[in-house]
Order: sequence, then structure tokens, then C-alpha cells
Amino acid sequence: MKRVKMALGERSYDIRIGADAIQSLPGWLKHHRTRRAFIVADRTLTQARAALKASLTRAGWEAHEITVDAGEGLKDFRAVYPIYGKLLKAKARRDSVLLALGGGSIGDAAGFVAATYLRGISWVGLPTTLLAQVDSSVGGKTGINHTAGKNLIGAFHQPELVVCDTNFLKTLSGREVVSGLGEVIKYGLIYDPAFFSYLEKHSTRFLKLDRDVLTRAIEKSVAWKCKAVSKDEFDRKGVREALNFGHTFAHALEAATRYKVYQHGEAVLWGMRFALALSQVRGKLDAAERVRVDGFLAGLDVPAVPVGFGPAELFELMTHDKKVRDGKIHFVLLDRIGRSVSDNRVKREDLFAAYRLLGIKKGAGR
Ligand SMILES: NC(=O)c1ccc[n+]([C@@H]2O[C@H](COP(=O)([O-])OP(=O)(O)OC[C@H]3O[C@@H](n4cnc5c(N)ncnc54)[C@H](O)[C@@H]3O)[C@@H](O)[C@H]2O)c1
Ligand SMILES: [Zn+2]
Repeated sequence: MKRVKMALGERSYDIRIGADAIQSLPGWLKHHRTRRAFIVADRTLTQARAALKASLTRAGWEAHEITVDAGEGLKDFRAVYPIYGKLLKAKARRDSVLLALGGGSIGDAAGFVAATYLRGISWVGLPTTLLAQVDSSVGGKTGINHTAGKNLIGAFHQPELVVCDTNFLKTLSGREVVSGLGEVIKYGLIYDPAFFSYLEKHSTRFLKLDRDVLTRAIEKSVAWKCKAVSKDEFDRKGVREALNFGHTFAHALEAATRYKVYQHGEAVLWGMRFALALSQVRGKLDAAERVRVDGFLAGLDVPAVPVGFGPAELFELMTHDKKVRDGKIHFVLLDRIGRSVSDNRVKREDLFAAYRLLGIKKGAGR
């Protein structure tokens, strides 16, 4: 079992990682005068829900369950409103604790409910997807969407604990595992060359959900995310910017395909390949290093870039990304593996050159 500490003064908390971690959950909870837990759970996770309830009741907790449909549809005022009603009906109080069991959509929505119910109650993240374990459950960003855009309504509300039980991941599809690996590789590329090499060497074991490789990869990813968050809890100083590596292109690709073609991490894999090519074009990254990384990323099974998606469409979509300030796109690039740099001087021609360098052909595969 691994433990990573999020250092945020009085809002500090632990992230526990390991197989069967859920069994030890009650012992890690903070002191609550009345032991009443409200579980907001993805209704499809039958086994995980049963394991969680059993673990809590064994330890003398009263466990209420509110099941919901996971996905972007949950991150909507109309979908979260009934959750408040159920909490009120079951008399959840300020010293009750809310547990969010599911992927990123559950964490974001339930975390937001916890941030706002009775002006804020304690919550625990129990992420069940790789994306949620290595990224979304850590850092305290909670929220829902507006028709005008994603995550536009929300609050910073840190959990009191996060438990990443690697057993939950066994039911993920192969695509979801590749997608999670994309976000994991990101941490290696922007922060940690040794971790990147480790992933390069053990990616096959990772994809087979090898327990040791998974635990280590999640631990490292979470530790890097904690480091960034603890220096910039409210995302005001730009410290968390590096975490957007690969995301400008990824968001453009996701938008162009109306969120129907790619898992988020798959789009990020494409986005990182693009950012690496752009890093070379901008004279920051050595060509040999780019080729090494690109070879690894290109070997992962990810859907092709669709027909009709060329550099012109790309540029148009990227200028709509939230990272655009003063009409300039702020790119996170690499100057070597493990070190990111920010670049706001990227020109349209550079994007075209990066596109060519990557050899993306419209509608072609890798
Ligand atoms: N708060 C943050 O810092 C942050 C960061 C990144 C992403 N996010 C958010 O995370 C969300 C995406 O996360 P996600 O992909 O985990 O979302 P999700 O909750 O929609 O889960 C994706 C799918 O996986 C299923 N699922 C969950 N756990 C499973 C398991 N163990 N086995 C099999 N299937 C399982 C779900 O039912 C769902 O169909 C987005 O809304 C995004 O905005 C938030
Ligand atoms: Zn991401």
C-alpha cells in the first residue's frame, strides 16, 4: 500500500494507493462525531459499491447510497439537483461525509455537491477509472458544466482523503487503460525522465494491469500532481500550467470530433505527439529525443486523426481554447524529457510544420 501526502496546510490529506485499499478506508477517515457516510456512486459499479458498503458498515458506519448515471450528463445542474434533495431527505448534516465512488464525472459532480451542500461538507474521493486516480481526484477542482462550456461552474474543495483501489481498474476496457496511460506518461514527460523511462520499459505490463507497475505508476503520477497543486492550490500562479501539456491539441481534436471518437487520454496522446513535434519545430527539443518519445507514443493503440482535420481546422479550434490570452496560444512545450517550457510565440506556420513533421495524413492511421 502506498501513501502520498498532499501538503496544503490545514487542508492537507493523504492519497492511499493499492489493491484492496477500500477495505482499510474507515481507518483512514478523519474523526466525525456521527459516523454517517453518504455514498454518491456510479450505479454500474456493483462490486465496488458492495465492497465499499461492507467496509463501512463493518467499521460501525451508517452508509447511505445515492446511485447516479456517470458521464458528462451528470455534470449538469438538473442532474445534481436531486442529489441535494436526497441528502436533505436522509438528513445529512454538516459533520456527515460524502464519498464519491466512480470516475472523474462522479468526483467532479459529487465534489461540487460536497462543496455547496450546507455551505460545504467533508468528502472523500474513491476514483475508479485510471484518469480519475492519476488526475481528476487529486487537486480539489470540483464542478459541473454549462451549455456554454465544460467546467464553468465549480469550486475548489479539497477532499479529506483519496483512496485509489487498483482492484477497481480490472473492469476498465483496454481503451480506457491506454487512455489512462496517456495521462501517466504526461507526468514523466513534463517532470521526470526516470519515470518516463520506467513507463517506456514497462508499458506492456501497465496495459495488462500488472499490480506492481500500476501501483508505482499511480503513486508517481499522484505525487507529481500533488507537488504542482501544493504550490498553487487555486491555479493562479501558472504552476499547474505544465499539466496541460498535450491538451491544447487534444481539446481541439476532441471538439472537432464532437467528443465521440476519442477517450480523453487518447486525444492527449495525440496532443503530446503534436506538442513534441512543435517543440522540435520551435528549436527547443532535440530531434533524436523527439523521435524516441514519438516512437513510444505512436506504438500505443489510438484512433486515427479523422478525415477533414488538417492544420487549418486545427489552428481555428486551438484559438478557441481557454489557454489563449491576448490572441496568442500559450503552448506547453518540452526542451527535454522531464522539463517543460511555456511558449506564447508559436506562429501559424509552426503549427503547420509540426503537423507535417508528425506525418499526420488526413484520415490515415498512426
Ligand atoms: N477535477 C479535475 O481536476 C479533473 C481533471 C481531469 C478530468 N476531469 C473530469 O473527469 C471527467 C472524465 O473522467 P472519467 O473518464 O473517469 O469519467 P466518467 O466518470 O464518466 O467515467 C467514464 C466511464 O467509465 C465507467 N467506469 C467508471 N469506473 C469504471 C470501472 N472501474 N470499470 C468499468 N467502467 C468504469 C463509467 O461508468 C463511465 O461510463 C470529465 O468530466 C473531466 O472534465 C476533472
Ligand atoms: Zn487530461
